[in-house]
Parts: sequence; C-alpha cells; structure tokens
Amino acid sequence: MITNDTGDSISEQKSASPRISSTQELRDRFGVAPVSTESICNPAIYDLEKEKIFRKTWLKVATTWEIPEIGDCKVKDLPVLDTSLVITRGRDGKIRAFHNVCTHRGNKIIPETDTETYVRARANVLTCRFHGWVFSTDGTLKSVPAQDHFGELDTACARLREVACDVWQDFVFINMEPEPSQTLADYLDGLSVVFGGYPYAESTQAYRYSTVLDCNWKVALYAFSEGYHVPTIHAGSLPGFRGADHAEFKVMSPHASSTIFAGGMDTTPATSAFAAVLHGSAAHRPRPDQLPKAINPTGRPDFQFELPTIFPNLIIHLGAGCGYPGLSFFTHQFWPMAHGKTLWEGTNYFRPPATAAEKAAQIHVSALHRNAWLEDTATMEDTFKGLMSGAITEMQLMDQEFLIRHISQNIDKYINA
Ligand code: FES
Ligand SMILES: [Fe+2]
Repeated sequence: MITNDTGDSISEQKSASPRISSTQELRDRFGVAPVSTESICNPAIYDLEKEKIFRKTWLKVATTWEIPEIGDCKVKDLPVLDTSLVITRGRDGKIRAFHNVCTHRGNKIIPETDTETYVRARANVLTCRFHGWVFSTDGTLKSVPAQDHFGELDTACARLREVACDVWQDFVFINMEPEPSQTLADYLDGLSVVFGGYPYAESTQAYRYSTVLDCNWKVALYAFSEGYHVPTIHAGSLPGFRGADHAEFKVMSPHASSTIFAGGMDTTPATSAFAAVLHGSAAHRPRPDQLPKAINPTGRPDFQFELPTIFPNLIIHLGAGCGYPGLSFFTHQFWPMAHGKTLWEGTNYFRPPATAAEKAAQIHVSALHRNAWLEDTATMEDTFKGLMSGAITEMQLMDQEFLIRHISQNIDKYINA
C-alpha cells in the first residue's frame, strides 16, 4: 500500500462498489475545478513520473499469445525505463522478463528491429553476437567462449538480470522494482473483479498501428480517454455517428473505467457487406453475453465498448463484436520516450479468421478504426504545442472528460508520495 504525505491511500481499489451512481457523485467525489497543465508542461515532473510511476507500477508489455511457444521471445525498448526488455517463454513454459543486456560487457542480447521485435530462441538459447555468450531463456548463462581464459568468472552470478513479471488475464506485466510493493494481483484487484473472465486470449488476430508523436504522453492518453470529441473530430471517419454518450463511470483507483454508448456508425455498402460476413460467422458475431457482468448491465442496444483504463498507460476497450463488426477488443498504450515524445500503439484484436472473406472483412474494419485513430493522433502535437506556449495553464473538463481528471489526480498522488 502506498500513501501520500497526507496519509491518503493510493491503492483504494478494493471498493465493494466501484460504480459511480450519478453525475453529482462524480462531481462531489472528484471535483469540478479546472485541472492544471503543469504536469504536462513541466519536464521536471516527467522525471518524477519516470521514477515514481513507471518504475513502481505494473506495466503491460506483452500478451501470452504473442509468445505462445517455448523459446518465443519479445523485445521491447522502453526509454521511460531506460532499458530494453526481453520477455521469454522458457523450456518450462513460464514467461519471464529480463533486461536485454548481456552480462559480459552490456551489449544487447537481441537487437531491436522495430518498436516490438519477436524472435524464436533456437534450441531455447539466446546468443550475444558480440563475443558469443549463450543464455538460456530462463536467464541461465549456459556457455562462454574461451571460458578458461577468464581469471575469475562466476557463471551463476552472470545470469541475465531478471525483472518482476506476472500475467493477468493473458496480459503480461512487468514491474521494475526489485521487490514490488504490490503483487500484480493486488495492483489489479478491483479491476479484476469487474473485468476478469473475458476470453481475451481467444482473439489472437491482431492489427497493430503505432506512431511516435511529439507530445507529452498524457496528451495522447487524455485524448483517448474521453468521448466528448467523437462527434466533432470523427465526423470524417464515422459519418454515421450521431453522438457519443460517455457514461457508467467506475473507479478502482488508480484504475477506472466507463462505457461509450453511441447511435450509428459508418454504414457504407462496403462496411455493411463486411459486417455481414463477420456477423454471419459464429466466431465473429457480437457476443455481449461474454462481456463481464458489470459492463452494460441494463443491456442498452447502443452499447459500443467499455474502456477500462489501467494506470498508468494502458486502455483496454472491450467491444465483443458490438460497435465495430467482429472486433473483440482493442487497446491503446502510451509509452513516454522523453518529456515531449511518445510512442502510441493501437491494436485491434479479432478472433482468427477462418476464411479469406473473414480476413478481408477484419482488415476493412481495422482500417476504419485506423482512420479514426489518425484523426485522434492528428490533434496531439498541436495540443502539446498549445499547452507548452503557456497561453493556458488549466484545462476545463466536462463530465465526460472525467477519466482525465481521475488520471491527473492519480499522477499527483504518485509523484507526491
Ligand atoms: S557483450 Fe555479450 S558476449 Fe560480450
Ligand atoms: Fe477518438
């Protein structure tokens, strides 16, 4: 349990009822005052966020289905942690995370070729290309060329440097604390109550988009955390959209969630045809019955998706084929690279297509979604520049922008803890 200097608990997620029952409760509990832009604009706060948030909280770095086989590895360069990590599936089937750093002289064990790099460790070992040290995917140093020429070498101590790693609902998280103050299960406890049990790992067909933006990470996170912008910024990509209702807020601090209801989507003939392909398949039809019970409990027919926001930098949108045809869920993740530089990643997840027509339909739906994300990301650099100008020092937030207020308050709590 982390507390700030006033003794308030940061981990208050074990609330029996996370649901906010009314707009008035939302306003009473979290306030209505404008929110300062200081934490976006001040580079010194970014340094505190690195130290007090990103190095102390659990961060999602992979999914289990990205590394399904023994020997599969994923490499993720994470400037916000000042390291590159390699996530492995060992001979025992266990998923582990290590610094992607050779314990001989520090070379990268696996050079990155992209913002996410995947390799298969042949014979279940990884070899540093500098001098040829060989490591098992469980981190053990297996062999050293010319080992007898080292006057002293403790191979047991020269294991790859391991990082705390655990799995929640097939999402792989790491924590940079040598001994995390909370287990992953504790960190996500309140969230698990609400969002556990959804068959995430059945939707292994991923369409991933990413871009590096010249903005603070929270500008990107905030833009994807509210539905107020939908009727205006998405008028081009979602012409059938008749407005969004962003409601049903749930608080499981430091995490929170809410629901997007909306009437209408793009209804071009092509989209209708592809929707028919996907909804004609048992695998891809809408499955509201599989959504966790806390989501859309009244069964509103205009349900689009639920957006659990996992502090600090992950949003999972649960759609279950509602809204976007055939799409099970999608995620946004925001990786700070510097105070004013952010890697944004958006990924659409579908159940695997059984036919070429289903695959084409998934690509079409994914492209529709990509178009909306292009509209979202197009605002971010201008917003950051505007805030950095100092012309305004506060953001005016309406009720549907509640998640921004909540995240901002959590950031203040963590960096003041
Ligand atoms: S730095 Fe890796 S073997 Fe030398
Ligand atoms: Fe958007």
